Amino acid sequence: MTTATTSPAPTGGPATDPLQLIDVDHVRFYVGNAKQAAFFYAQTFGFQVIQLADLTTGSRETARYLLTQGNIRFVLETPLNPDNPINDELRRFGDGVKDVAFNVHDAEKAYERAIANGGESAYEPRTVSDEHGSVTTAGVKSYGRAIHSFVSRTGGYDLLHIRKGAAFGPEFKPIDFALNEYNLKNPCGLKYVDHCVGNVEEGRMNHWVDWYENVLEFSMFKHFDDNDISTEYSALMSKVMASGNQLIKMPINEPAEGKKKSQILEYLEWHSMTPGVQHLALRTNDELSSVAELRRRGVDFLTLPDTYYEAVWNRVNTTLVEHGHQPVKEDHERIRDLGILVDADDEGYLLQLFTKPLQDRPTLFFEIISRRGSQSFGKGNFKALFEALEIEQERRGNL
Ligand code: FE2
Repeated sequence: MTTATTSPAPTGGPATDPLQLIDVDHVRFYVGNAKQAAFFYAQTFGFQVIQLADLTTGSRETARYLLTQGNIRFVLETPLNPDNPINDELRRFGDGVKDVAFNVHDAEKAYERAIANGGESAYEPRTVSDEHGSVTTAGVKSYGRAIHSFVSRTGGYDLLHIRKGAAFGPEFKPIDFALNEYNLKNPCGLKYVDHCVGNVEEGRMNHWVDWYENVLEFSMFKHFDDNDISTEYSALMSKVMASGNQLIKMPINEPAEGKKKSQILEYLEWHSMTPGVQHLALRTNDELSSVAELRRRGVDFLTLPDTYYEAVWNRVNTTLVEHGHQPVKEDHERIRDLGILVDADDEGYLLQLFTKPLQDRPTLFFEIISRRGSQSFGKGNFKALFEALEIEQERRGNL
């Protein structure tokens, strides 16, 4: 999967499959102050801040900053006026993800199909265009405050052109950002969105699994821990939904009964009891370099108990050898020094690490993940992780 930083050519044709979701076009966050948030994500995660739509470009309702790294695009949006409805979401949810937008061949057709499939409109199709090309967007409501936009692009606004520095849309202009050159010289190595996890209310996971199946025509992603999704430690249940080409994966969590308060319930309580995106997993090909650079930049990662590394190599390398794979090739000492988590299954292994919440409310966080064959999500780390999370919840007075 090391070449998967660009999307494979989709199979079939747009005419036969309007919901042929190609890839994540971008993830849009609502934030209280996009100018400052852009600095945070640039400094701590090494994003390039490359384009802007604000008062100076004629955008009078909101300011939007485009941040990029590899094939990841974040749009940070903040309202400019007190009566903008985004203010209400910021009051209720704080900073967080509003929109996981998908790149499609024809946004209007994809939207119509999703509505015909039972989806509810978030907003109707709209097209902005100029002499360079056009961008058409339309949105459907997903769980809680989240929406999915469909985005189709023509001419100079194609994603390939954007990756080479073209404007994100007619209303955007390039900006000279102070940290861009530094970030190019000191890369964090993040390549694309591996998966995007949502937290929904207790008892609602299957409802949203059905929604992704019916409305977006996703299917259940098969991986080794399918049949064993809850443990006494995890206090959550999770199912993974994937788009047809499996480039877009959306696991859905619901709280489960546990010994202590579920981390999913803590999220919901600090998110107005409203479902939303819990974490974005960002993929790197070199977990150790990425985590070392992110730590150097001050990213606040979850700390695991030292005992984790007493058991992990036996567990992981035994599983790998059992299934005919080589043991973990990365330096075991460095993995421990960097506090990285390891898990293995029948297909290989993965390295992962979770940040603490990215804002003051214990809601959204990032995962930094690299895969060596494994396509699962690190279930073997749940026990250690939940113990680490409980320590954090305790510190926040939320246990
Ligand atoms: Fe994850």
